[in-house]
Amino acid sequence: MEIYLEPARTLFCYFCLSTSKLISLQTVAAPSQQHIFRTVMHCICSRGNRLLQHQSVFKDESKLDINYVPPSLPHREKERRLLSGFFEFLLQFPERMAQRVIIAGDVGTGKTALSKHFGTELVLQGNKRGLKLRYIHVNCREYRGSLFLILHKSVAFFRPNFPRRGYSAEELLGTLMQCLDEEDAFVILALDEFDSLIEREGSEAIYKLTRLQETRQDKPQRLSLVCILRDLSLLERLDVSARSTLQRNVVNLEKYGRDQLVDILNDRVSMAFEANAVPEDSVLFIAELAQSESGNARFAIELLWRAGKYADSEVADRVLPECIRLAFSSILPSVKKSELASLGLHEQLLLLSAARVFKESESAYTVLSEVEKGYAIACEEYGERPSSHTQVWKYAQFLSALGFIKLEVITVSTRGRTTQVSLPSVASAELEREILASLKKHR
Ligand SMILES: Nc1ncnc2c1ncn2[C@@H]1O[C@H](COP(=O)(O)OP(=O)(O)OP(=O)(O)O)[C@@H](O)[C@H]1O
Ligand SMILES: [Mg+2]
Repeated sequence: MEIYLEPARTLFCYFCLSTSKLISLQTVAAPSQQHIFRTVMHCICSRGNRLLQHQSVFKDESKLDINYVPPSLPHREKERRLLSGFFEFLLQFPERMAQRVIIAGDVGTGKTALSKHFGTELVLQGNKRGLKLRYIHVNCREYRGSLFLILHKSVAFFRPNFPRRGYSAEELLGTLMQCLDEEDAFVILALDEFDSLIEREGSEAIYKLTRLQETRQDKPQRLSLVCILRDLSLLERLDVSARSTLQRNVVNLEKYGRDQLVDILNDRVSMAFEANAVPEDSVLFIAELAQSESGNARFAIELLWRAGKYADSEVADRVLPECIRLAFSSILPSVKKSELASLGLHEQLLLLSAARVFKESESAYTVLSEVEKGYAIACEEYGERPSSHTQVWKYAQFLSALGFIKLEVITVSTRGRTTQVSLPSVASAELEREILASLKKHR
């Protein structure tokens, strides 16, 4: 009987806890078999029902796909207009001019998205004017920076079964121009991750692409280039004349600030999530985390998507800050145990308090005074005398310098200035668990 009852009791406790059913220890200690059976069945059914009935927080996840290009790109309007300006003449007199433009900017600043967005729009405008304009986007890194493979992909756009063997890069370029002449078409070739082409082929490839017209005297210009790269200084690897043919028109994309990321995220939230599934506070929190990751929109969107996945797996109907912290720590390394162990006892107690405050809260932010209150309770728990307010402020600064918490002094109309605290990099429950384990050593 005991053999049967022990696992049954464990199961009983598990289901009670997993469905947050309140039970007294007395009941757990001696439940009748029938009671165990009924409760377990009740819990299985109610959890199952919750899972079955649960509606996903997502309305259309594909809008968060990294390759999805949205119909509008908030905060890239100026750059889009600049690009349009560069190609204005080409739209009017396509045969007389081929354009060369560079789009540069840090990781996740929207270079690829901007180029594709612009390319689609330009093709539409061209078509309206009766122009056969084509936009071909090639990621040079995918083609190992080989001019031959890049040109093969471009030729295949017009001749899908064009053989891969038996031609040189020059011959492929000649074939591409021949296709364009035959179809009276014009191409904008976007060379994404252009640096890999420079690395592999150097200035020679640039000459082939840009001096093409010298061998096509009196023929229309047909091939324009958009070169996309992160770091403009990579162009220094090219010789002076190759560089000068490219560098005339540069569109530089600055990193996004927090408020810009909020707009980008809000746009995606409305396309990808059910109404009210992502609170304002959560969007702001994601934007702040992404801004600290160098203003990277890709990171922001991936974090939003992952946080939504965590919300679904928790059967929650909203994407709350804890889901975001879980998502963040699944992307970046979470609590660094060695760093935690190196903290002093009172720093750990303050961090423990922060973890508990956020575990109990649905907000992404709290104020330092709240954390300090929890710290006093934690000190009592561990038989320690709480340190002075000035000392607590120093601990908080140290925890912030290590990246465990984030501090920001803000102005609140009613109370003047106050210190806002957030827990950026790790789920509060995980942090609490790690600190409790580490504190055991202090006891
Ligand atoms: N202004 C914006 N509005 C909406 N979405 C944006 C914007 N900027 C970037 N994104 C989105 O952020 C993600 C990253 O953008 P993108 O791939 O264009 O960055 P990138 O600059 O090309 O980065 P990398 O240097 O890593 O190639 C994409 O999903 C893109 O759609
Ligand atoms: Mg890109």
